Amino acid sequence: MTWWKDTVIYEIYPESFYDANGDGVGDLAGIREKLPELVELGVETLWLCPIFSSPMKDGGYDVGDYCGIREELGTLEEFDALVAALKRNQMRLILDIPINHTSDQHNWFQHSKASSDNLYRDFYIWRAGKGESPPNNWISSKVGGSCWAQTEETEDYYLHLYSDWQPDLNWENPAVREAMAKVLQFWIDRGVDGFRLDVINKIGKEPGLPDANIDPETGLPEYPEPYFQNHPLSHGYIQELRSRLKGDEIFLIGQTQGVSEAEAYAYAAPIRNELDSFLQFEATDFQKSKGESQEAFVEGWKAKLFRWQMIDERVDAMIFFGSHDLSRTVSHFGEDERYRRESSKALALLLLSLRGIPVIYMGEEIGMTNARYRDFSKYQDIRTRLAYQRRVIEGGEPEEKVLREIWETSRDNARYPIHWNAGPNAGFSRIKPRLSPASNYRQVNFEIEGEDPNSVFSFYKKMIRIRRLEDALRRGGFRAAESVPGVICFEREWQGRRLVTQVNLTDAEKVCEWIEGSACRIATHALQGEASVLSAFEGRILMI
Ligand code: GLC
Ligand code: CA
Repeated sequence: MTWWKDTVIYEIYPESFYDANGDGVGDLAGIREKLPELVELGVETLWLCPIFSSPMKDGGYDVGDYCGIREELGTLEEFDALVAALKRNQMRLILDIPINHTSDQHNWFQHSKASSDNLYRDFYIWRAGKGESPPNNWISSKVGGSCWAQTEETEDYYLHLYSDWQPDLNWENPAVREAMAKVLQFWIDRGVDGFRLDVINKIGKEPGLPDANIDPETGLPEYPEPYFQNHPLSHGYIQELRSRLKGDEIFLIGQTQGVSEAEAYAYAAPIRNELDSFLQFEATDFQKSKGESQEAFVEGWKAKLFRWQMIDERVDAMIFFGSHDLSRTVSHFGEDERYRRESSKALALLLLSLRGIPVIYMGEEIGMTNARYRDFSKYQDIRTRLAYQRRVIEGGEPEEKVLREIWETSRDNARYPIHWNAGPNAGFSRIKPRLSPASNYRQVNFEIEGEDPNSVFSFYKKMIRIRRLEDALRRGGFRAAESVPGVICFEREWQGRRLVTQVNLTDAEKVCEWIEGSACRIATHALQGEASVLSAFEGRILMI
C-alpha cells in the first residue's frame, strides 16, 4: 500500500505560518518550532507552498531559482533541519512547485530574452507578432489582458498564461523537460517525498497556438483554455517526467483545474504511470449565488462533491475545502460568526469522512475566518490589487461594493498570518507583519483552541484519529444516501464495516433518521433530545 493512501496532509503557506526570527515573515525555522502542535493535531504530511527563491510578485509562484530557498524563509541548511525533524516524527514532506512558468527574473529567461538565437531562447515560447498585434488573440482568464508581451531586446513576443512576469516554459523543448526533472531530483535527494505540481495541466499547448474563437455576442475572443488546459500533450510530458525520477514512492499530485472524469483517470490511474492524485476544483469553487438560501447552496455543493466521490475506484482524488487560493472554509461553506465553532467542526467531520486524500489548510483546524479588512490598502494579493485598479480606479465602481466582493474572494483570506494567541500581532511575529491578522484574533487563536476540549482543534484531533483507525474512511467505497435539503448523508464501507456520515450544514434543526441498531462513532455535539433531529451544524458518524 502506497503511503499517501493513508495520510492526512496539512498545507502551509510558509510566509504566514510562524515567524521564528522576528522579521515579520514566516519562515522554515518557524515551521520547525511549531511542529509539536502539528504532531499533536495528528497530520502526517506537510505540503509547503513554494519555498524557492522568488521576487514574490505572486506569492512564490514566480520562481527565480528552483534550487535555492527564498532568503526570507531560511537556508538549505534550515531546510535540511526541517526534513530531519519531520523524519524524526515519521512525517512526510511535499513541495509545491510551479513548473509551467518561471519568474521573468529567472536566469533562463534573462538569457532567453537577450537575443533571438541563444541557448535558452527555446526555453520559452517566442513568436513573431502579426503586424502591430500579438501572435494570437489569447486573453488571460486569470489576470486579464493579452497572454503575450514583448521585451526591449527583440521584436518577438513571449507567451504568459499568467502575469507578464511569469513567462511560460516551452515544454516542447526536451532541454526544458530534462532541466525540470533535474530540479525535482535535487529535492528528492534532499529528502522530499513528493510534489504538488502547480498548474501542470497547462504545460502542453496546442501546436500552432491557434486563435481562440470569437464570442458572437460580445465580439471578443473567448478564453483560450481549450488550447492548453488538459491538452493531450501534457500527459506525455508528465509521464516522461515521472519516468526520470529516482526515489521510493514519490507522490505526485497535479493541480488540474477543469478536469473531466476521463482526464482525471488518464492523469492518476496507477497503470498510466503519470500522477498519483489530482486536485479538481468543481466542488471547492462552488459559490453561493446572490440571495440563495444555505439549503439550496448546500444542495448544489453536495451534487458536485458527490459526483467526484463516485469516480472510478482505481483513482485517488485529493479532497480539500480550502487552500492558499480560496476563501476560508468556514466562511465559504459554514457560518463564521454565531456558529463558527459548530460549523467548523461539521466541515471537519465531512472532510475527514469523505473519499480521497484529505488536505487541511493551515488555520482551518482552529476555525479561522476570512480576513475582511475594511481598508483596501491592507490587501496584498496581486489579483485583488489588479481588480481594484481595474474596477475602482479605472472602472469607477463604488469602492464599498468592490470591497464586499473582495471580502469573500481575495486570496489574502487564506494568506494572512496564523493566529497563535491574543497577544501583539496575534503571536505570529514580534513585529508587524505585511498582512494584518483578522480582527477576531483575540477569540480565534491556537492558545484558546489548544486548551479547550470542546474546541475546533480538539475535534480535528479526534476526527483525524478516527480516520486513522477506520479503514472504511480511508479505503472504503462511497455510497450517497437520501437526506432532506441542507443535510449531507453518505455511507463508506469496507469489509463489512459500514460508517454513515450525517451532517447538517444549516443553522436550522433538520430531521435525519437515526439508523436502527447503529452506534455513534463520533459527533460534533453531545447527544441530547430526539436522536432523529440534527441541530444547527450538527454532524455525526454512525457505525453499523
Ligand atoms: C496556481 C496557484 C496559484 C498561482 C498560479 C500561478 O493556481 O495555486 O496560487 O497564482 O497557479 O502559478
Ligand atoms: Ca522570519
